[in-house]
Order: sequence, then C-alpha cells, then structure tokens
Amino acid sequence: MDAGFKTISIGMLGAGVVGSQVARLLQSDRQELSDRSGALLVLKKVGVRSNTARDGIDSSMITTDLHSIVTDPEINIVIEVMGGIEPARTLILEAIKNKKSVITANKALLATHGHELFNAADAAKVDLYYEAAVAGAIPIIRSMRESLAGDQITRVMGIVNGTTNYILTKMHEEGRDFKDVLKEAQALGYAESDPTADVDGHDAAAKAALLAGLAFHSTVTIDEVYCEGISKISIEDVNAAKRMNAVIKLLAIAEITVKDEISVRVHPVMLPSSHPLASVRDVFNAIYVESEAAGELMFYGRGAGGAPTASAILGDLVAVTRHRAYSTVGYGESDYADLDIAPMSEVKSQFFVRLHVADKSGVLASIAQTFASENISIQTVHQAGIGKDAELVVVTHSASEASLIACMGKLASMEIVTKVEAAIRVEGAVA
Ligand code: HSE
Repeated sequence: MDAGFKTISIGMLGAGVVGSQVARLLQSDRQELSDRSGALLVLKKVGVRSNTARDGIDSSMITTDLHSIVTDPEINIVIEVMGGIEPARTLILEAIKNKKSVITANKALLATHGHELFNAADAAKVDLYYEAAVAGAIPIIRSMRESLAGDQITRVMGIVNGTTNYILTKMHEEGRDFKDVLKEAQALGYAESDPTADVDGHDAAAKAALLAGLAFHSTVTIDEVYCEGISKISIEDVNAAKRMNAVIKLLAIAEITVKDEISVRVHPVMLPSSHPLASVRDVFNAIYVESEAAGELMFYGRGAGGAPTASAILGDLVAVTRHRAYSTVGYGESDYADLDIAPMSEVKSQFFVRLHVADKSGVLASIAQTFASENISIQTVHQAGIGKDAELVVVTHSASEASLIACMGKLASMEIVTKVEAAIRVEGAVA
C-alpha cells in the first residue's frame, strides 16, 4: 500500500448479525480493502443501543451515543445496519448534513423516505449507497443502476425473501403444510419469532419499491406496492400446481404497463417448472430482469445472512472510498421519468382458480358461463374427485384483477359452488 494514502475513518450504526460481520471482514481484510479503495480504511466507532460487549469488536470502539458517530468530524463514511425507520432516518440525515457518505442496508427506510434521503445526499454531494438493501449479496442495485443504465428495462421479477421461499420450497418438495414448515423455519432461525414482515410480503414489498424505482427512474414507495403474502397458500394449491408441472413462488414484480405506468406488486405466482425462477430453492433469492436490448438476465445468490449482506456493504464501501479518495461522488438516484403507479384493478394476469362444486350435470356449463359473464376466457379446466363434491381447477386467459374479483364474488354466491378455495396469478405456460 502506498504510504501516501489518505485515511478514511468509518463509523458504524448497529452491530447485530450483519454489523458484526462487517466489522470482522473490515479487520481481517483491511489490507486488501484498503489497496482496492485507494485509502487506508479504519473502523473508528461502532454505535449500539445497549452497551453490551460484541465479539470481535474492540470495546473501546463501542458507544451508545449514536449521535456522536454522525457528528464526529474525523468520520468520513457511516455504515447504517441498525434497521428500522427511526432513529436511522434522523441519524442518516445528520451524517449527510455533516458531509459523510452513507452506506445502508435499510430497505424499509429507503422504501419510505428514500426521496428525502437521496435528495439530501445529492445536495450535500455525498454518496448514499444501498446494495445490501435488496437481496443481500446479489449485486442487483449496481447492475440495474449502472450496467443496465443504457437499456430499457421492461420488467423485473424477483424472489427477494428467503424465508417465504424456504417455506414454499418445503411445501412443494415435502408435501407439508404452511404452519408446519413455518414452525421449522423458526426453529432453524430462518424465520423470525414474529414472521409477519416476511410471510405477509412486507419485506418483499420494500424491495419491490426499490427495484421499481431503479428500473423505471421514478420514486416508488412501499405504500404504493400491492402486497399479498403466502399464509393462504394451502398444500392443495401446491399439489395442484405440481400436477400442472408448476411451482408457487412469492414474487416481487415491477413492470411497465401499456399506459406507461408502473405496476408494482408482491403476491404468490404459479410459474411453470421450466421458468428460471422456478428452480430457485430454499432461502436463495433471484432477480429476473427483462430489458429491450439485453433480453432476459437472471441474478442469483444469498439474499440474507451476516456475511453475504456484509459482502454487499463492503463492495459499497470500496466504491464510496474510491470516490472519497478522489474527491468525487458516484451515481445518484435517477427519478426523472416520474411515472405514475398503475391501479391494481387494471393489472392483467392469467389466474388459477380452485373451487369445490356439486358434481352433477350442467355445473361445468354454469361455472363457464359465470367466467364468461365477466368476459374472462378459460384456458383449461381440470376436475378431480368423485361423489357429490368435485374439485375444479380453472386456468384462465389474461384477465383484469377487477374482472377476476367480480367473478369470484359471483362464483361464491352460486348454489352449486361449495367453496371458492383459491385464486392465484399465473405466469407463463401453465395449463
Ligand atoms: N428476512 C429476509 C428474508 C431477509 O427472509 O429474506 C432480510 O430482508
């Protein structure tokens, strides 16, 4: 290393699963990271909420005075891995005001207050980098923001939550039901004791907002993302998907509509087994990007965990340090297109509808008539079961959400229908 290197001092907010790995790697790989950055990297302070000892972090660095980190004149870069909205938002704004570049893994914060934070960083001429906020180690932010900056992205579909992908994989491969697998995922530490953010899709919705904003050069917030989780997916749905050579995945989808609006949503999707996303198993994440010139791309890897997330943070750290060493800043956020969000009611998909009906003559005709009354064309119908109650699985051609909801209402009120069990959106050639 060049003896004339600048020293770049780092302050870190948070020292949990991710922060402790960042601290470990910063110390063990300091020489390489400094050589790659063009500056000597020194971890100066680590802020925690309660002053407990942290393995591998010198206790003299640890402070509970988080404010002292973002105002320390010697600190050049702040890494925020504490999570949550406050005090993270206030601390990051304060750091930016004090001309520090910031690296954050905080998807919920960026998907809620991103506009304010990115504007503040632009005004202060500092970097605000967030590769770790979406899909952990997978380099999707930089790929979309820089490598694909010359292309027109048309759609992004991602498996961006490992917990739900683990649950759906086990349901599919082991024939176990949702509650049983969730319990196991909690015991293994994949799922939180309060799994709501994962299973109800909120974690994926924050990531969907960030991906949609990047893909379509607009500000998208988590409130604008339609969100449906996996807790209603039953083993019967999974088995019906299997019979059709398909799998059910929780996808974050961002696409441009014919009206030039952004459709952004998180919900279960039935995918043919041949789709590249169908083979993404267990806790792995993947993002499938479609663009005009490049065509289809897929990014795959570990979407969570201490070391994988730390890898993304350290990549940002090297980039931001290089900018600091040469007194410049990198790409800021681009929201020039300012596109509107498409109402969910207008979004069109194919649907899988599973229902129990009386098994007698004329029933199929009446069911088909109900779909037709909402202008929904049927692609295939499978019937299973004998006796007085039969299970019908209908796959429709493309229909709007509004038509499907109206059709479901009509089906549910028909005397011959015992129960409408499920309606799941379908992607690709499932029949
Ligand atoms: N809880 C998330 C997951 C990781 O299961 O993938 C953090 O976003």
